[in-house]
Amino acid sequence: KTPVWEARADLLVLGSGVAGLTAALRAQELGLRVLVVTKAAVEDGNTRWAQGGVAVVLDGEHDEGDSIDRHVEDTLTAGAGLCEEDAVRSILHAGPRSVSWLRSVGARFDPGATGLLARAREGGHSAFRVIHAGGDATGAEVERTLVAEAAGRRLPVLERHIAVDALLTPLGAVAGVTVLDPNGVPGLLRAPAVLLATGGLGQLYQATSNPEIATGDGLALALRAGAQAADLEFVQFHPTVLFTPGARGRCPLVTEAVRGEGAVLVDGAGERVMRGVHPLGDLAPRDVVSAAITRRMAAAPGGIDDHVFLDATGVSSFAGRFPTVFAACRAIGVDPARDPVPVTPAAHFACGGVVAGTDGRTGVTGLYAAGEVARTGLHGANRLASNSLLEGLVSGTGAAESAAADLAAGLLADPKQGRQLRQKAVPVTGRDALQRAMSRYAAIGRDAEGLSVLGSVLDLSTQDHLLRTHRDVEDAALTLVAQALVAAAERRTESRGSHVRADYPDSDDELWRRSQLIRLSPSGQ
Ligand code: SIN
Repeated sequence: KTPVWEARADLLVLGSGVAGLTAALRAQELGLRVLVVTKAAVEDGNTRWAQGGVAVVLDGEHDEGDSIDRHVEDTLTAGAGLCEEDAVRSILHAGPRSVSWLRSVGARFDPGATGLLARAREGGHSAFRVIHAGGDATGAEVERTLVAEAAGRRLPVLERHIAVDALLTPLGAVAGVTVLDPNGVPGLLRAPAVLLATGGLGQLYQATSNPEIATGDGLALALRAGAQAADLEFVQFHPTVLFTPGARGRCPLVTEAVRGEGAVLVDGAGERVMRGVHPLGDLAPRDVVSAAITRRMAAAPGGIDDHVFLDATGVSSFAGRFPTVFAACRAIGVDPARDPVPVTPAAHFACGGVVAGTDGRTGVTGLYAAGEVARTGLHGANRLASNSLLEGLVSGTGAAESAAADLAAGLLADPKQGRQLRQKAVPVTGRDALQRAMSRYAAIGRDAEGLSVLGSVLDLSTQDHLLRTHRDVEDAALTLVAQALVAAAERRTESRGSHVRADYPDSDDELWRRSQLIRLSPSGQ
C-alpha cells in the first residue's frame, strides 16, 4: 500500500524498553527532536518482566574483594570465549554512572540491612552484586521510572505503530522507516538517525519468558537494510520458568536470585540436578544449568520428562523477598515455602543481534542499535545474569550521544533522500508451525539432522506475503530471523555457551572461537 501520512524527527527510537527510553531521554537532553515509535503501549516491552535486577559494582557498595574487574571476569567466563573484552570493560565501567542517573530520575532499589543497597547473587556471579527493586520486580521499577520521566518531559511517543522497513538513500544510508499505524494504514517517518531498541526474539519458541511483542522485528529490519548481525545461534534459555502443563507463550520467570538465596534444583526422585556438574553448583552460569536440566529430563525413563523442581523450602521470607514469583506459584496452587516448585528451561534472551559498538553505531550510516537487539560483544555465547538492564542503560545513552554527534558533524543523510525498499512479497512462515519446529529442533541439544528437518519444515510452511498488518510484519521478522539462526546453528559444529549440539558436545576453540557474521545480499536473500 502507498504511504498516506508522513512525519519527521531528528532521531527515531524504535522500542520503549530500557534502552529505547534511556536513549530518547538522553537525546532530548542533547537537543534532538526525538520520536519514540512502539508497537504496543509504551510500558509493554520486555523490560518490565525482568526480575533479578541490575548487576553492577557500585563505589563503596560492594562485597569485600568484589570489583568491576571481577565482574568483567565473571562476564567473560559466562560468555564462553566469545565476549569482546573491550566492550565488556566499557559497559561494566560505565554501569555505576548509568545506575546513578536512573536513581536520580526516581528509580528506587531495595535497601539492605546496613542502609546500603541490598545485593543478590545469581548464576555465574562470584559475588553478591545484583541490585534489585520490589524484591523481584526490578524491570517493572526501571520501566515505571523511565515511562514517568518520559511523560514528565513530554517525550513524543507513537504507540501501537510498527516499523516495517528502513528508508534507504541511494548510497545505502538509513533515513527513516515505513510504519503501519494501529489500523494498518502505512506512513513514512523520515529522520537522519534511527535507533533500534526493539528487544529480543523469544517468540521464536513455544515456551519463553518473553512477552508476545518479542518477535525480532528490529533485527529483521536491520538485516533487510544491509546491516550485519552476529551470534544469532546463541539464544539463552533461562533455567527456571514456572512449569505448567502445555504452557504456551510467556511463562512466568522464577528468578535465579531464588537460587542465590539457597534454593536447589531436584529431579522427580528428589536427586540434586547440579551435584557434580559445576563448581558453582546451582549457581553455575545459566547455559550450564539449563543444559543440565535438559539432560536430566531426557534421562527420566517413564518419569517426569518435561520439568524438574526447585526446592525453595529453605529460603526465608519467600513471599516478601520474591512477591512476583510467589504470586505466580500461588496461581497454580503451589506454596514455595512448603512445596517443590515445578520449573523448566525456556527461551529467554538473544545473546546475538545487530552488530553495534557500545556507542550504538552499526555499519550502516544513520542506523543505531542498543539493548537486546544489539550485539555489542558484552554477552558472547551466553549472557551473565542481570547484565542486560545495565547494557540497555549504558548502550542507550551511548547511542543517543553518537546520533547527536553524527548529526552535528553532518555525517548523516538528508531524510528527503530516503526511499522505500522495493515493495514486494516476503517469505512468511505460519507462527504455530515455526514455534513448534524451533522448539523441537533448535532449542537445547540441536543436531545436524534436526536442524536440516527444521530447514525443510520452514521451507514447506513458508509462503510469500505482502506486509499489510502488524501480524504480517512480526511473522516475516520471525521467519527471517529463524532462517538466519538455523543457518548459523548448522554451521557451528561445536557446543559453546547457549549453543548446545547433541552431535558435537565439545567446544572446538581452534575452529570456532569466533563469531559468525551474517549479512543479507542486496537482493534481500
Ligand atoms: C532472573 O532474574 O533470573 C533473570 C535476570 C536476567 O535474565 O538477567
